[in-house]
Amino acid sequence: MAPLLSIENLKVVLKDFGKNQTGIILRGINLVLNEGERLALVGESGCGKSMTALSVLNLLPQPPMEILSGEIRFKDKDLTRLRGEGWREIRGKEIGIVFQEPLTSLNPVIRVGEQIAEMIRNHSNISESTAQEKVLSLLNEVGLPDPERIARQYPHQLSGGMCQRVMIAMAISCGPSLLIADEPTTALDVTVQTQILDLLFQMTEQHRLAVLFITHDLRIVRNHADRVAILYAGQVVEEGRPDEIFSHPQHPYTEGLLEALPEFSHKGRPLFNIKGLVPSPFEKITGCCFASRCPRAKENCLLEEPELFEKSRGQWVRCFYPSGR
Ligand SMILES: Nc1ncnc2c1ncn2[C@@H]1O[C@H](COP(=O)(O)OP(=O)(O)O)[C@@H](O)[C@H]1O
Ligand SMILES: [Mg+2]
Repeated sequence: MAPLLSIENLKVVLKDFGKNQTGIILRGINLVLNEGERLALVGESGCGKSMTALSVLNLLPQPPMEILSGEIRFKDKDLTRLRGEGWREIRGKEIGIVFQEPLTSLNPVIRVGEQIAEMIRNHSNISESTAQEKVLSLLNEVGLPDPERIARQYPHQLSGGMCQRVMIAMAISCGPSLLIADEPTTALDVTVQTQILDLLFQMTEQHRLAVLFITHDLRIVRNHADRVAILYAGQVVEEGRPDEIFSHPQHPYTEGLLEALPEFSHKGRPLFNIKGLVPSPFEKITGCCFASRCPRAKENCLLEEPELFEKSRGQWVRCFYPSGR
């Protein structure tokens, strides 16, 4: 069966018109997501996780960014070629979205019930009263008590967690087959984060949605993802099943990410923090993007660019010297 979403060799550039230079944001991303599957994107801040997600939704900041090449296939469409009206059928309807900041994603001057109703009416021909009923049942489904009262509130009258529940209700309201969630709990109190994540995964399971989710929390990946792609400098450097990757990381960057976590670091070894910074989009890189920070880099790593290859079944790595087993 064809995958639900496949991103092929996606390249995104950043144009600095003032300095007349072009930077690279995504250097050929390949990702596949099957129906009902959960894929996590992981990596330090600035690795290109959000821009990958925004590319799928045609929400890149354009300009200064631009898709240089690549394909994004969703069902039978190439999203990179979709224009105007076509997006109405996709965004919100076929693909639900939950972003990091619920307060900036919701309209501050419209009651939340009305915002969900508007979303539903935009994508289907149902009567006003049916839309209202659906709003109340959705608010109930996402665990908001007293849906009638909540529906009448404005976003600022609700807590961050409640707003994110409203966002989840909105994201599932039109029966999408894919949900994209970009760090959906980062802006929330720690105590609320787990509840919202549990709700998100419970809803996507019940509604059989595939999920592309972004997080920097590897514990969440371990508990919720079917597959994980580790991004570095706009590239996938490792991909596979979380249990495989966490027990046998192959890429030195993945090892570094894992060893920064107390529960993954090996006993007796000091916590390893990856030295240095993610390269800026304008930095000229030859060879492997990670070489300048890599404890295992050899001469050829600075000259040649490694390809992503299948190191063992289902586990892909972009490194000349993967750790092996
Ligand atoms: N609006 C923007 N204008 C210019 N550069 C941006 C913008 N947003 C993000 N970037 C750059 O794009 C790169 C990838 O960013 P992003 O995808 O947001 O990273 P992540 O989500 O992994 O933290 C980074 O170098 C970041 O600085
Ligand atoms: Mg981001």
